[in-house]
Amino acid sequence: MIAALLRRIRLGAARPREAEPPHFIRSYDILVDNLLRAYPRDVAMSVAVGGEFSRMGELQLAVLRHFGLAADTRLFDLGCGSGRLAAALGRELPSVLYHGSDINSALLGYARSLSPRAFRFSLSRTLAIPAADASADMASAFSVFTHLKHTETYVYLIEMRRVLRPRGRLVLSFLEFGSPRHWPIFVQSVGVERYGTALHLNEFIGRDTIRLWAAKIGFDVEGFVGDDEAPWGDAGPFGQSLAVLVRH
Ligand SMILES: C[S@@+](CC[C@H](N)C(=O)[O-])C[C@H]1O[C@@H](n2cnc3c(N)ncnc32)[C@H](O)[C@@H]1O
Repeated sequence: MIAALLRRIRLGAARPREAEPPHFIRSYDILVDNLLRAYPRDVAMSVAVGGEFSRMGELQLAVLRHFGLAADTRLFDLGCGSGRLAAALGRELPSVLYHGSDINSALLGYARSLSPRAFRFSLSRTLAIPAADASADMASAFSVFTHLKHTETYVYLIEMRRVLRPRGRLVLSFLEFGSPRHWPIFVQSVGVERYGTALHLNEFIGRDTIRLWAAKIGFDVEGFVGDDEAPWGDAGPFGQSLAVLVRH
């Protein structure tokens, strides 16, 4: 039976199916297209990345400043979306050497339209980070690994280590079971699993998992910030948990 199948494949009788785009491409392309059809562009571009465009941009900026972002930092922003962070940076710290990447061109176009001309934006539809080795002092991934499988996040962490210079910092946000405020997101995903199709994946990561990945890949874990903590002050808690990794 197996020998016969192999023979058919060799003869070209049974061809492998066309590879489907990965889940994150499918889900974000559909989400963004539908939002643009239903709402004015500003609304669609905000809702697509979670809303509260200005407040979340300011908050992300406050977080990064707290962890060392300065006027001349080379910052790589993975999954930059429609530019919540880029727009805040453009207003308050435009000298930062900013490079954002995303998988969706409509989101990137909007981010570019709100940003200083010197900011760079790259479209990447794979798990490769479009930046040179050791080209960033700092990197961020806000609400990105929350939508990827663990294996995909792991690929990106390897890539992040390549792109960061030694002692460069990565600030990433994640959902965790340890937070009672994140539990309803998991319950929602369970409901989707039983009764319907998810808009996009919501993935949780444990702190122990982040510690293990960091050790395997070559990062030190500088620390964690709980979803309800705000060591940066007035901007308030982030809502997702944060991990700060330092490349060694
Ligand atoms: C919740 S939004 C957050 C966007 C932005 N970081 C922010 O906080 O405003 C998630 C973003 O991740 C992007 N994304 C999803 N999968 C991705 C992947 N594999 N690589 C890079 N970006 C991805 C989506 O297109 C979307 O812009």
